[in-house]
Amino acid sequence: MDKDIAKIRTEFPILKTKVNDEVLIYFDNAASSQMPLSVSRKIFDFDQNYRANVHRGLHTLGMQATNRYEKARHHVRNFINAQKDCEVIFTSGCTDSLNLVANSYGEVNIHAGDEIVVSIMEHHSNLLCWQQLAQRKHAKLRFIELDQDQKLDLADAKKKISPKTKIVAITHVSNVLGGINPLKELAKLAHQNNAIIVADGAQAVGHFEVDVQDLDVDFYAFSGHKMFGPNGIGVLYGKRSLLEKMPPYRLGGEMIENVTRTQASWADLPQKFEAGTPNISGAIGLDAAIDFIEDIGLKKMHTHDIEMRRYLLDQLKKIADLKIYGPKNDTGAISLVSFNLSGIHPHDVASALDLEGIEVRAGHHCAQPLMQELGVESTLRASLAIYNTTQEIDKFIQALTQIKEFFENGIR
Ligand SMILES: Cc1ncc(COP(=O)(O)O)c(C=O)c1O
Repeated sequence: MDKDIAKIRTEFPILKTKVNDEVLIYFDNAASSQMPLSVSRKIFDFDQNYRANVHRGLHTLGMQATNRYEKARHHVRNFINAQKDCEVIFTSGCTDSLNLVANSYGEVNIHAGDEIVVSIMEHHSNLLCWQQLAQRKHAKLRFIELDQDQKLDLADAKKKISPKTKIVAITHVSNVLGGINPLKELAKLAHQNNAIIVADGAQAVGHFEVDVQDLDVDFYAFSGHKMFGPNGIGVLYGKRSLLEKMPPYRLGGEMIENVTRTQASWADLPQKFEAGTPNISGAIGLDAAIDFIEDIGLKKMHTHDIEMRRYLLDQLKKIADLKIYGPKNDTGAISLVSFNLSGIHPHDVASALDLEGIEVRAGHHCAQPLMQELGVESTLRASLAIYNTTQEIDKFIQALTQIKEFFENGIR
């Protein structure tokens, strides 16, 4: 095992845990990655040493909590290269961020006859809010399809994005297929047609560099728990010029400038979109998660991703009657592979793997229209992170082979 990876693994005590008497092999990182000690310690430090609400009291703890919360925002801004801190809105997660855009920007900017373009590979989080918006507004939802390699079909995108398009909402990386979508080209296409582009970065951030200015996306959403951070914290990046014109999505404390019996005016960005007590420890944990990623470096993260994908694909391809979904090559994708074993239900395979201490996901991955397109109800998905190794892949492949033999011939 690479010495650096061995060292990184020591930051994750959970990787020594036994599941069903076997040392855990955690291949469900696309659902939630594990959290390093450094992140847990920062959250504990807040809760035990300076826990207080933010942007309210003038007392020392309140100011300390506010400073750390705003420091986290500044760190996120630098991490994704936003122009201003106020373009970083803390939300409860990627789903919340996308709903914010649909229900605020979408509500005032979509009208009857307009078109919203998504792709067939969207997670329900980046589909349902647009589907419902289109229904409410009598707008049309259009889908960019897959190409022959099961990547996003850019030629189809050029057909679907037109002067009628008002919003393009696309995932940066598919949580089922693993392919990295050409976001920069899509942003260009959207802008050439006077549309805005909303990107779902849930499976991208923490895997490779994301520069929102270079991509020229209008909105970018992601979650902390998929990038070594805590649950319940997420980010919506938005261009300031757009966020400023948008109405608030949630109403309540700390998002107002002035309130009378009958009227209210809104606070400036980012508070306008952060009603109520935010997830302060979550933001502090996210800050620490970004430290963790930056200490390793996104280049190394990406290289590891490519190496793991290559090795995983090579090994999976050796198993007969195993169908792989998504791009068949190792670049232009993250270390996430969906597959099925012919004639064996993915849930049975996942349960059998769990008995060996190997955690993978089986299901529709909150992407049912994509499943319909692929002609299946569910798939197995192995998704790896920086702490996963080729030795773990070997054990996984061995277990998979034995499970296949058992289901086919009853031999184990
Ligand atoms: C591509 C994609 N988008 C959105 C989400 C939703 O993220 P969250 O549940 O953290 O809001 C997920 C979660 O799996 C995802 O994979």
